[in-house]
Amino acid sequence: MKYPYKVSYAIVIIMAMLCASCQHRDSADTPSSASVKKQEDYYQEKHRPQFHFSPEEHWMNDPNGMVYYDGEYHLFYQYYPDSTVWGPMHWGHAVSEDLVHWEHLPIALYPDEHGLIFSGSAVIDWDNSSGFGDGGVPPMVAIFTYHDLEKERAGVEDDYETQGIAYSLDKGRSWTKYEGNPVIQNPGSRDFRDPKVIWHEASQKWVMAVAVKDHLKFYASPDLKDWALQSEFGKEQGSHAGVWECPDLFPMVADNGETYWVLIENMNPGNPNGGSGTQYFIGQFDGVSFSLDPEFGKLLDAKGSVWLDAGRDNYAGVTWSDVPASDGRRLFMGWMSNWSYAQVVPTEKWRSAMTIPWSLSIIHIDEVPRLIGTPVDELQTLRSKELRYQQGEAIEIPSGLMEIRGTFPADQDFSIELSNNQNESVTLNFQAVKRQFTFDRTKAGDDSFSADFSGVHSVTRLAGDDTIELIAYLDHASIELFLDEGTNVFSEIFFPTEPFNRLQITGEAQAVQLYELQGIW
Ligand code: FRU
Repeated sequence: MKYPYKVSYAIVIIMAMLCASCQHRDSADTPSSASVKKQEDYYQEKHRPQFHFSPEEHWMNDPNGMVYYDGEYHLFYQYYPDSTVWGPMHWGHAVSEDLVHWEHLPIALYPDEHGLIFSGSAVIDWDNSSGFGDGGVPPMVAIFTYHDLEKERAGVEDDYETQGIAYSLDKGRSWTKYEGNPVIQNPGSRDFRDPKVIWHEASQKWVMAVAVKDHLKFYASPDLKDWALQSEFGKEQGSHAGVWECPDLFPMVADNGETYWVLIENMNPGNPNGGSGTQYFIGQFDGVSFSLDPEFGKLLDAKGSVWLDAGRDNYAGVTWSDVPASDGRRLFMGWMSNWSYAQVVPTEKWRSAMTIPWSLSIIHIDEVPRLIGTPVDELQTLRSKELRYQQGEAIEIPSGLMEIRGTFPADQDFSIELSNNQNESVTLNFQAVKRQFTFDRTKAGDDSFSADFSGVHSVTRLAGDDTIELIAYLDHASIELFLDEGTNVFSEIFFPTEPFNRLQITGEAQAVQLYELQGIW
């Protein structure tokens, strides 16, 4: 159809206005995003993760308030918008519809008169127990730690960490702090933080796990505002080589059909491979207290502790709330760094990324329940090309973005080396006689920023099968290796001069599948 001149002119103007409003919607991202996003070099800086979440700029640590609501996975995170090192904490915010692609949103929570906004969780208050709802949508409620920096600096009292809450009625886009904050006063410890709140179905109440220096405390509430102490766990269990932080608590049906409760507890320092790390416990929780499963407890009898990741770069990881029962997964994500060097890694514009999302399960090995994790299937949508693998041959992957799946006989040694043209490399080795996996990043490129970065990390193989299944995700500054279906995992970062773009497998692989991946930004 031919439009008269005036009509077509009007159409052009309307189109231009529509286009401007699209751009405006984009600019609801962090302030810089609208301008940066259009540039060709968006997310192309040296060492910039291509399919991991990282903030556009400045400092990020723990994932916070991970909750699913109305088609969106929310990822809030510890954020300091004024620098690339840790500072007064806010909650940054991003959402994803598929756990793979992320949209940056404006900062969700700012410090206030009670303090900085440290780590915590978020829930959907479906029945409006808090009364924050407006009769329409259920409130999204964030539960976090206030850290009163001035009080800490004054150095007189140790009670500068308390718990506070805030709510949103518009899918996490805007937040109102509760006027009755803080909702839990400090019990007399300088470390009292990172509340994880869940709805405890059996007792029809909210339950909070919160870390207190060397143990966890459980509180319960009918309305997310009034909390009563229920019990403690951990003074005598697990490792106490560092300060306990960022707990998680959730039920899970195991491979034998039994329901267990998992308690995740992050600790800094004390990771057997150095720095901050994540230990976990399996048992039962009755709404009041957590008790260890007797078989799992035997692992701890000799002052043992059980770790979720043998690598050095998976910390403060917790799971998403309110994932629909129809999905049924327990989804986990961690901060892909380590307090030993996080603030000095050689990235200029931003610091740190998150791990890829995992799906958790419980399996039994020698009758002991263990928590394992594998990459979520959604990541397979990143595959852009399948590459042919020929035994013994090195393969070039120009983009340096790769998914590797392999099966190896467990009675033979094998290694997987990723390298570049600068003679830099990282290597996973398996030694059959010792049943040992090692990850070597001593030749991984720039490690001048910290004497504590370079190293070889190891873990003993747990599973007893004849074959070892491996899944690996390689990005420009990290690799995540899932061995024996995630029974042992290495999450590791590195800073090569150029991305690793060559793969060499030695030893006999029974099967190898290789995919080049595309970035998400
Ligand atoms: C863990 C942690 C938390 C705290 C937050 C502060 O990495 O130390 O315990 O809430 O970081 O940013």
